[in-house]
Amino acid sequence: MEEIISLAKRRGFIYQGSEIYGGLAGTWDYGPLGVALKNNIQNLWWKRFVLDREDMYGMDAAILMNQNVWKASGHVAGFADPLVEDLKTKKRYRADHLLEDNNVDPKGMTLEQMDAAIKEKKLKSPDGNPLGDVRQFNMMFKTHMGATEDETSISYLRPETAQGMFVNFKNILDSFHPKLPFGMAQIGKAFRNEIAPRDFIFRVRELEQMEIEYFVNPKDWKEPFEAFQKEQITFLVEDLGITESKIHQVEIAPADRAHYSKHSVDTEFDFPIGQKELYGLAYRTDYDLAAHTKGSGVDLSYFDEEAKERFIPHCIEPTFGVGRTMLAILSDAYTKDTLNGEERIYLKLSPKVAPVIAAVFPLLKNKPELVGKAREVFTMLKKEFGRVMFDDNGNIGKRYRRQDEIGTPFCITVDFDTIEKDQMVTVRHRDTGAQERVAIVELTDYIKKAIQ
Ligand code: GAP
Repeated sequence: MEEIISLAKRRGFIYQGSEIYGGLAGTWDYGPLGVALKNNIQNLWWKRFVLDREDMYGMDAAILMNQNVWKASGHVAGFADPLVEDLKTKKRYRADHLLEDNNVDPKGMTLEQMDAAIKEKKLKSPDGNPLGDVRQFNMMFKTHMGATEDETSISYLRPETAQGMFVNFKNILDSFHPKLPFGMAQIGKAFRNEIAPRDFIFRVRELEQMEIEYFVNPKDWKEPFEAFQKEQITFLVEDLGITESKIHQVEIAPADRAHYSKHSVDTEFDFPIGQKELYGLAYRTDYDLAAHTKGSGVDLSYFDEEAKERFIPHCIEPTFGVGRTMLAILSDAYTKDTLNGEERIYLKLSPKVAPVIAAVFPLLKNKPELVGKAREVFTMLKKEFGRVMFDDNGNIGKRYRRQDEIGTPFCITVDFDTIEKDQMVTVRHRDTGAQERVAIVELTDYIKKAIQ
């Protein structure tokens, strides 16, 4: 993990949030290559789950919502993590993490059971001090809207994008008249006041989610649930190029499910910190639409024309964390090997997600005819793919190393043969170092094939 964090910072993927002021725990800033990788992830997700389907409606709801949304959804009362306090330093810890760190599996434990386990094992805080009782800590960031700070002006930064879709359910019905089953999809920021943000971008306070709320007739929930379960793996393997053997799907025990879920399967990944949750999939039943019908007084039911029956649709929710996807991709791709007798570090990224798809070099920096031709090739590819780099610094070997470290699949060199003989360039492959000559006129199609 330390090596990945270091590469991410050094090469402009991810920086610590507010770094020059000593940082801000649980926040990270994405640099140019991080944004490029993130955009590729999000575009692939949007393509698979929205553009390629006929039953999905894209959304982008406001982050700030009426506080009654969160009262109705159960988040004000129940979106909490178990907290335990060091009685001397007043530092706060996640009780379940503390148990895990002391070889006690907290899965399925109630608050009282965690409290009892900590007391029975006489666990101390990481600073060696006695601990208080385990209690619930609400993770929503609370703020006030407008100039008055009272109960009526309270608002929360959303802790999940999902509610922005539930509250727009009726708008979609009224604008598009979709038939069940259909879904709403959204990519956006969410905020959680995590007690202990840790493990780089794995657990943060400002995160990004890609979520789908898929509405079904209650008698038909199983089939789409299983289809999404498979699609989560297909997205990881086929779109993002992640190693399938590192992905595991785990059914969540009733006591560990979110308050709204009747059935949950997590997709876990072998992160450098162990096998942990990457994505979630929950059968939310009619929990949310029923709660908002009650909370708002607006009828969120659906009328089935064929069966002539009115009911509140049930919801299946596949949810994908963007940051955790990024961490899975980076840690899966991080590779060390020896090439031509030299040790190197490279990112074995799929061309579909690589922030730079190709880098173009003139063989020599001080030969204007080589530089001119290389700029021509660069401009042609840049117009087509956007994510293309030009580099004429240092020798070719050094340029290769730099591109390997950021996972660029193709390095393209313009040499004297290109301009004097054949209008061809040398394409060097990142993983093997193998080189081949490709005609300039064929380069665009050559790269397109790799990202299909
Ligand atoms: N709408 C359902 C929901 O929000 P969740 O399991 O709490 O479910 C969904 O979160 C996904 O968001 C997780 O599977 C994970 O990928 C990501 N996620 C949740 N909390 C996170 C955090 N503190 N830091 C980074 N990613 C997080």
